[in-house]
Amino acid sequence: MFLFRHTKRIDMTQLIGNSSAVIALREEIECLKRSDAKVLITGESGVGKEVLARVLHANSPRASGKLVAVNCAGVAESLLESELFGHTKGSFTGAYRDRPGLLEQANHGTIFLDEVGEMSARMQALLLRFLENGEIQQVGSVLPRQRLDVRIISATNRSLLDQVKAGAFRSDLYYRLNVVHLKIPPLRQRRDDILPLTTHFLTFLSQQQNLDPPQVTDEIAQQFVEHAWPGNVRELKNVIERLIVRRSGQVVTLDDFWQVCPQDEWTPHTPHPEVEPAVRPVSIADRLFDRMVRDGESFWSAVYPSFLVRDLTRENLRDLVSKGLRQTRGSYKILVSLFNMKESDYRRFLTFLRKHELQPPFHQFRTPPAPGMAKVEGVARRLH
Ligand SMILES: Nc1ncnc2c1ncn2[C@@H]1O[C@H](COP(=O)(O)OP(=O)(O)O)[C@@H](O)[C@H]1O
Ligand SMILES: [Mg+2]
Repeated sequence: MFLFRHTKRIDMTQLIGNSSAVIALREEIECLKRSDAKVLITGESGVGKEVLARVLHANSPRASGKLVAVNCAGVAESLLESELFGHTKGSFTGAYRDRPGLLEQANHGTIFLDEVGEMSARMQALLLRFLENGEIQQVGSVLPRQRLDVRIISATNRSLLDQVKAGAFRSDLYYRLNVVHLKIPPLRQRRDDILPLTTHFLTFLSQQQNLDPPQVTDEIAQQFVEHAWPGNVRELKNVIERLIVRRSGQVVTLDDFWQVCPQDEWTPHTPHPEVEPAVRPVSIADRLFDRMVRDGESFWSAVYPSFLVRDLTRENLRDLVSKGLRQTRGSYKILVSLFNMKESDYRRFLTFLRKHELQPPFHQFRTPPAPGMAKVEGVARRLH
């Protein structure tokens, strides 16, 4: 049986792993302990960029200050400025009171700018001005600018340098943010981390849910180690979370593993910073697919409401379902699990697809399996 130790408390500002890449990162953290240097962290989505930012902050002279995280891709362009710099009452519709910005909240601490590559040209200019003089002016304020003392750690899953070359990111801002560059390799390139992370998540997530952890045999542990993990550590964590819900206290079988982790041998479309061009069109279906398969969101929250209010077209949805069915080799049952719905939602999901004529015929996805897909095909045949 795969060794499973109980640890009392898990520190979330801890970089778990034994790989040489993680050991090298720990050495970098040690070197940066007394530094205030700006750090740029790159790596595919889900590799642990935010964890690393938190560890850097916790191991810095600013540890007693706050770490404030902001996802530059998740905030509408029109709001990002007031989010970062704050605003005064009445400066725009909906600004009912003065509100300090995130930079001010991070004063004497660190701000973590996630997905920094997604900032608009205007935001890049404003950020650059702040980096040059450390001053902010709230949106709508006529008061003198305020000086702040904030360390900046930024992260991106794109190659900022490629974006600079493509004219989408300012080179002056790039060089200011990129004083120290830390790269986190994808999980498939540091497989030594998989078992320590598995133990960590089995312990932590079972404790969190007050459930007994499932039992992982050596054979299953080997599956974990060999899997491609296109969604990196985030995907590993989601898979373990699903296993805990389904198999608490029980021995995990190979079928269980493939049920919660049906995709295999497919490459993530997230560009790898070192090798792929950064500017590449990503379809709506790709984005939605990632939100479910990589980030663990359910179809019912990531897709269904947007379709009902017509933010998504039937064509968007057909693309998404087809993409999913290609992964599951035409099995709608596995699709339900892939899109993070409960098994009991199968009927509801199919009724929804039928009602809106969103069902591509599954036969077209039943092509002969690629070598690495054999296991998925096996599951698909049994379940359909
Ligand atoms: N080395 C690690 N040790 C512990 N947890 C990790 C590690 N790497 C990633 N995680 C966990 O995986 C998930 C994704 O990590 P995150 O830092 O959000 O990735 P990214 O910012 O690169 O998309 C989080 O839940 C995080 O806690
Ligand atoms: Mg992140």
